[in-house]
Amino acid sequence: MAASTKAGVTLTGVSKTFGDFTAVHPLDLTIPQGSFFALLGASGCGKTTTLRMIAGLERPTTGRVLLGEQDVTALPPHKRHVNTVFQSYALFPHLDVFDNVGFGLRRRGVRSVKKQVEEVLELVELGHLARRKPNQLSGGQQQRVALARAVVNRPEVLLLDEPLGALDLKLRRQMQLELKHIQTEVGITFVHVTHDQEEAMTMADTIAVMNGGRVEQLGAPAELYENPKTAFVANFLGQSNLIAAEVAWRSGEELLLQVGDAKLTLPASRTHAAAANPGAKVLAGIRPEKIAMVGRADAARVPQGRNMLPGTVVDASFTGVSTQYVVSSPYGQELAVFAQNVERGGFAPGAEVVLHWDPQHTFGLDGRQDIDAGTGEDAL
Ligand SMILES: Nc1ncnc2c1ncn2[C@@H]1O[C@H](COP(=O)(O)OP(=O)(O)OP(=O)(O)O)[C@@H](O)[C@H]1O
Ligand SMILES: [Mg+2]
Repeated sequence: MAASTKAGVTLTGVSKTFGDFTAVHPLDLTIPQGSFFALLGASGCGKTTTLRMIAGLERPTTGRVLLGEQDVTALPPHKRHVNTVFQSYALFPHLDVFDNVGFGLRRRGVRSVKKQVEEVLELVELGHLARRKPNQLSGGQQQRVALARAVVNRPEVLLLDEPLGALDLKLRRQMQLELKHIQTEVGITFVHVTHDQEEAMTMADTIAVMNGGRVEQLGAPAELYENPKTAFVANFLGQSNLIAAEVAWRSGEELLLQVGDAKLTLPASRTHAAAANPGAKVLAGIRPEKIAMVGRADAARVPQGRNMLPGTVVDASFTGVSTQYVVSSPYGQELAVFAQNVERGGFAPGAEVVLHWDPQHTFGLDGRQDIDAGTGEDAL
């Protein structure tokens, strides 16, 4: 089911302080009904706290929480049409799979749970294991029981807090696809918390990137990836080259940037710096896979109009599908370049090269930011 235009969850001015520490700054957020929404960010940025306020497990310090049209700010968790799947899914060890899944329905007084439980077990492909106990299941199977146990209640909103954290990489990938599939089948609003950017991009329709208790940017995965607005988002979501530059000249549609002796063109529509007038410091961003590389001797063959920077290869690591290069530019910066492994042969460390790319792929950020924000090398 596609996400509708109706709101599934609305947060208005929601914040949370613990003593004198603000875990979540006033937050306005509308999550469309039926969408798969991800809260993405590093440890401690306020993801779980936000989720717990939606669930009713944490009382907001300010603001209101709405589920659909209903203001639930003052309602306790069990009065909200919400289910949460936590990282530790805590199944009842003495109950088998069927009874674990049927538990919530029975507690609500539903007498005949058989049909509903069987249906949801089919959905997570566990029908054949209905009589097993949790300790007789693999991690991924237990995870699916936890999910089934939440989905069977048909909540308006399903909250998932790092539910795949305990799984190994292969199982995680598999569960990501299954979760997405289940969400599409049942059409429930999913709010998924994760610190894994790949996981968020694979599954979510919309991602809110959080940093220090604030949402830095919100959008569809491809939009965030192609057009990040802050250094944190550019570095946290995939890998970016951020090049310190100065605005040399500006027309309506384009900016010309000075980097050492080189000039780069940047589309004005992709510039997210407040006052990018001549003299202003900006960070010119370019993703590693957008960059092509030729030997210095072939520089004349680079087509007109491309952005170009000279450099020296300092590292080349072959990963099978691609080779990842580190190239140092004479302007005091190292750049990452991913070259698809289409033809054999490449550049060895020491090679003098020219990097070039379509100016349209360049994005511009405010130069006053920490260039390493979100890389893991910044102070967390
Ligand atoms: N009950 C509490 N009292 C005081 N501080 C708290 C409390 N709960 C959370 N915090 C703080 O609020 C901040 C946000 O915590 P939160 O659990 O929301 O982070 P998170 O984004 O879920 O991180 P992680 O990825 O590590 O789970 C953290 O700095 C945390 O130490
Ligand atoms: Mg958390």
